[in-house]
Amino acid sequence: MKTQVVIIGAGPSGLLLGQLLYKNGIDAIVIERQSSEYVLARIRAGVLEQVMVELLEEAGIAQRLHQEGLVHDGFDIVFNQDRLHIDLKELTGGKTVTVYGQTEVTKDLMQARSKAGLTTVYGAQDVELVDIDSHNPKVRYTLDGKTHEVVAELIAGCDGFHGVCRASIPKSSIQEFERVYPFGWLGVLADVPPVQHDLIYGNHPDGFYLCSLRSERRSRYYLQTTTNDSVENWSDERFWDTLEQRLPIDLRVSLTKGPSIEKSIAPLRSFVAEPLRYGNLFLAGDAAHIVPPTGAKGLNLAASDIRYLSRAFIEYFKDKSSAGIDFYSQKALSRIWKGERFSWWMSMLLHQFPENSSFDKKIQETEFNYLKSSEAAQRVLAENYVGLSYD
Ligand code: APR
Ligand code: PHB
Repeated sequence: MKTQVVIIGAGPSGLLLGQLLYKNGIDAIVIERQSSEYVLARIRAGVLEQVMVELLEEAGIAQRLHQEGLVHDGFDIVFNQDRLHIDLKELTGGKTVTVYGQTEVTKDLMQARSKAGLTTVYGAQDVELVDIDSHNPKVRYTLDGKTHEVVAELIAGCDGFHGVCRASIPKSSIQEFERVYPFGWLGVLADVPPVQHDLIYGNHPDGFYLCSLRSERRSRYYLQTTTNDSVENWSDERFWDTLEQRLPIDLRVSLTKGPSIEKSIAPLRSFVAEPLRYGNLFLAGDAAHIVPPTGAKGLNLAASDIRYLSRAFIEYFKDKSSAGIDFYSQKALSRIWKGERFSWWMSMLLHQFPENSSFDKKIQETEFNYLKSSEAAQRVLAENYVGLSYD
């Protein structure tokens, strides 16, 4: 089989790239290890930057997002019992974010892909990249016991943190930067009305908590846990009681408890690989970088990578110019590092760090007090939260 682009991974990065290439008449096939049902069962974050919403409009898949997504023009930060409202709209000259689950974005992209009759190979095993530093890179995989080979001009590595693409680059040609945080997030999804419309990011002496939502009837909550914790230790009752205790006293009456429909624990990590290109392989999304979820930048950074990469690929095929693909890594990394900095900063502000000295605790408290007293500081937070411009 022959195509212009092989995309490895059918998460939001791979599917969005496929859709943008399709819109520009470029052939691509997507190769995914899991089944489509498995991909759609994953629950991830759900806050979209304004620029990402615009990109999804450009991709032609924002119809349901506009019907069902919830526009948010602010959120709360609570430090102990002290509450600070961040008015995103006011602080950014009118910008907002949209609450719409990553799973829904993935579903919309999948539907657009199947409606257009485009090929996605689900359940591909033993995916292997061959001759990636040549002009004819190939991807081999096994499906139903048979080996297949696809020859392409360019390969997009959109296969997440544990994928095969980054791992196929020789160690001497890639540098990795990493910080692992000494805690995880326990996430719970439940069909109960959210404690309030605006998100709450809270730092409580017992640990971080986040009150988010998927709709006015479905809540998404998180609690800081230890890294070695497991969901078996968290009955629904224990979860709700712990969350209730961390909430500001006046909000506790508004908390509706109910059976969980999903419960998972995720570790927190900051990670960047550089550069994002090796030969004709290009990394994007979680394959290239990870952020801690504080600030919801993971999906949004994946989208900006794909915007840069799709434009570079289009330039390569339509204008026969390599300028875009040569500049992709540098351009994407500049925005990625700003997202890394912001997610790190929000994580440092909002969590209880087991090893923190009394000095570190005072600095954290002062960071919050400064934010509270300075509109300039709030503007910096808001500008990053709604999403930095792509250019
Ligand atoms: N071969 C083919 N597909 C693979 C392989 C492989 N060897 N390894 C992994 N995959 C698939 C995974 O099954 C997954 O569906 O690649 C896909 C990668 O998707 P994501 O992990 O969702 O990564 P990405 O599309 O970059 O999206 C980034 O996901 O983790 C969140 O916070 C992150 O919101 C961000 C978003
Ligand atoms: C979520 O709704 O899942 C969510 C929201 C904001 C974050 C992280 C996750 O910062």
